[in-house]
Amino acid sequence: MKGLILSGGKGTRLRPFTYTGAKQLVPVANKPVLFYAIEDLVQAGITEIGIVIGPETGDQVKQAVGDGARFGARIEYILQDAPRGIAHGIKIAREFVGDEAFVLFLGDNFIRDGIAAQVRAFRDNAMNAQIILYRLDDPSAMGVAILDSTGRVTRLVEKPKQFVSPYAVIGIYMFDRNVFDAVNAIKPSARGELEITDTIQWLIDRGLNVRAHLLEGWWIDTGKMADILEANRLILDILESRNAGQVDSASRIEGRVVLEPGAVIVNSLIRGPAIIGERTRVENAFVGPYTSIYHDCVIQNCEIEHSVVLEHSKIFHAPARIADSLIGRHAEVARADGHAKTLKIMIGDYSKVGIL
Ligand code: DAU
Repeated sequence: MKGLILSGGKGTRLRPFTYTGAKQLVPVANKPVLFYAIEDLVQAGITEIGIVIGPETGDQVKQAVGDGARFGARIEYILQDAPRGIAHGIKIAREFVGDEAFVLFLGDNFIRDGIAAQVRAFRDNAMNAQIILYRLDDPSAMGVAILDSTGRVTRLVEKPKQFVSPYAVIGIYMFDRNVFDAVNAIKPSARGELEITDTIQWLIDRGLNVRAHLLEGWWIDTGKMADILEANRLILDILESRNAGQVDSASRIEGRVVLEPGAVIVNSLIRGPAIIGERTRVENAFVGPYTSIYHDCVIQNCEIEHSVVLEHSKIFHAPARIADSLIGRHAEVARADGHAKTLKIMIGDYSKVGIL
C-alpha cells in the first residue's frame, strides 16, 4: 500500500499563524502535526508516501520534511494548483498511486494510537474503502456518517447544518483503485470543492464494500487553537523526560520535562509536563505544566503555562501569567518604556489577546 498525505489547503481557521506558515507545520509537543501522520504511516509499514502541497506553503513543507529518509520513508511531492477539494487531491495523485491501494491521511489530523490495526483490517477483509468514525456530541464541523441498524454506512453528509448523526468521519481513509472512478465522476459541491464525502457516497451507491471502523482512542483535527492546545496536552502527557540541555544550579526541574539540545535554563522553575526546544533560553521564569516552547525562543522574566510558543519568539516580560495561549512565530512581548500602566504589543490580523 501507498500513503497519500494532503498538506495544501488554506488554513483559514488557524489565522494568523497560517498567513505565513503551513497549518500542518504547527508544532504539537515541538513536532509538526504533519510529522505524526508520516510516522503513523511508516509504523503501519507504508513507506512510499506522496504529499500533496499547495503553491503558497509547499516549499516550507518540502523543506521541513525532505525526501523522507529521516522517517524511513520515500517521499514524493504532488503540487495542487489551488485547494479544489480533498477528492481533487486524490485525482491528481493518480500517477503516484498507480493501481495500488492507499491510505489517505489529511495532514492536520492527529490520532494517538496509530493506524496499523486499521490498515491490517483493510488488507485482510478485501474492502474497497474503509472510513474511521469518531463519536462527537456536535460533529457539525466535519463530514458525518449515517449508519443503518446493522452498523453499515448508508449516507455521508459534509458539515451538516442540522444534527443527523454523532459519527464524524475522521481524515484518515483507505481506498483501492475504485476511488479514481469516483473522483472522476463527482461534481464540485456548492462551496466549489470536490468533496471526500461525495466520493465515498459514490462508492456506497455503487454497492462497493465500504466499511467503517469506530475509533476508540482520541482524535483531533488540529484546525483551531483550542485543538492545538488539546493535542499538545495529550502528547505531553505521554512524553518521557530527557535532558539534552543545560540547567544552572539556581534552577529547578520538576516532573516530566524534555530539554532539547542547546536549551538553556537559568534561575527558573520548569514544572512538567513540558518541552523546551533547541537553543531556547529560559531565564528568571516559570514554565508550568502543558507548555511547549519551540526552538530558538527566549522566555525571560515571565510565567507561562498550558501554552504553545512557536519558533523564534521572545517573551521578555509579562505582567501576569500567560496561560492557555498560542504564540506565533517570531512574536515578541516586551516591557513598555515609560508609564507603569502601559501595555506595548504588536499583534497580527485576527489575533486575540485577553487582558485583565
Ligand atoms: O478532519 C476531518 C474532516 O476533514 C472531515 O470530517 C471532512 O469530511 C473533510 O472534508 C475535511 O474537512 P475540513 O474542513 O477539516 O478540511 P480542510 O479544508 O481543513 O482540509 C483538510 C486537509 O487537507 C488540510 O490539511 C488541508 C488539506 N487540503 C484540503 C483541501 C480542501 C488540501 O491539501 N487540498 C485541498 O484542496
